[in-house]
Amino acid sequence: MVCECASNEGGTPCGSDCLNRLLMIECSSRCPLEDQCQNKRFQRRQYVPTEVFRTDWKGLGIKALTDLGPDMLVMEYCGEVIDTNEFARRSMIYSRDNQQHFYFMALSQDEIIDATLKGNTSRFINHSCDPNCETQKWTVNGRLRVGFFTLRNISKGEEITFDYQFERYGKEAQACFCGSTNCRGYLGKAPDEDDDVTTDDVTADDDITDDVIQAKSEVAESTEVATESSKKKKK
Ligand SMILES: C[S@@+](CC[C@H](N)C(=O)[O-])C[C@H]1O[C@@H](n2cnc3c(N)ncnc32)[C@H](O)[C@@H]1O
Ligand SMILES: [Zn+2]
Ligand SMILES: [Zn+2]
Ligand SMILES: [Zn+2]
Repeated sequence: MVCECASNEGGTPCGSDCLNRLLMIECSSRCPLEDQCQNKRFQRRQYVPTEVFRTDWKGLGIKALTDLGPDMLVMEYCGEVIDTNEFARRSMIYSRDNQQHFYFMALSQDEIIDATLKGNTSRFINHSCDPNCETQKWTVNGRLRVGFFTLRNISKGEEITFDYQFERYGKEAQACFCGSTNCRGYLGKAPDEDDDVTTDDVTADDDITDDVIQAKSEVAESTEVATESSKKKKK
């Protein structure tokens, strides 16, 4: 869709009033503002500076290298886009191998991003019950992509986190070490909430031990999913 920003005077080109931006769609090569357009953050990889570091209790994590404002793209969540059958198969393999950390992100009813083997450093972003970022799904040249966006000001050196809102698929509950005052205690459902674990939604195999990070969905689920690495794979 072509926005109407060409007629806007002043302000950021394709900024907060851009019709595409409001619909969480990035402008395409047809944007009348061309190189001036500021609504191509995924396409231009306009990420904030971050660094991988070792946390005390959560394995590796990501921290900000500069002060950040709200609504900035931290980075895209990249990985392999797989269907539910492949998800079930990999879940069993990772379970069998006693994998400690999990890198699944649900994108839609039947598509999941797996950043276990392929991905970028966003795979190291940890969960917090009081997060400073959220996931957003944006449509970029007709494909859905997911990224982490800041929710508020973040200070240089602060860990980047988001709320996994885990669905748990028959796995033992993982204790949460986010340290926030409102910590829920677990990354997914607490052990006493096991009654409504959704194992059957994925597979009948009770040995499944994986969590899926639920990306916040604000875009029609039918849109095709794409990440950088999945596109490379398809080439
Ligand atoms: C997407 S990975 C994040 C990167 C991971 N820390 C690592 O070293 O690879 C998700 C895993 O990190 C760990 N994790 C993330 N947030 C956590 C938290 N708040 N408390 C405890 N473990 C956490 C859990 O093992 C979880 O399965
Ligand atoms: Zn625009
Ligand atoms: Zn534009
Ligand atoms: Zn917590």
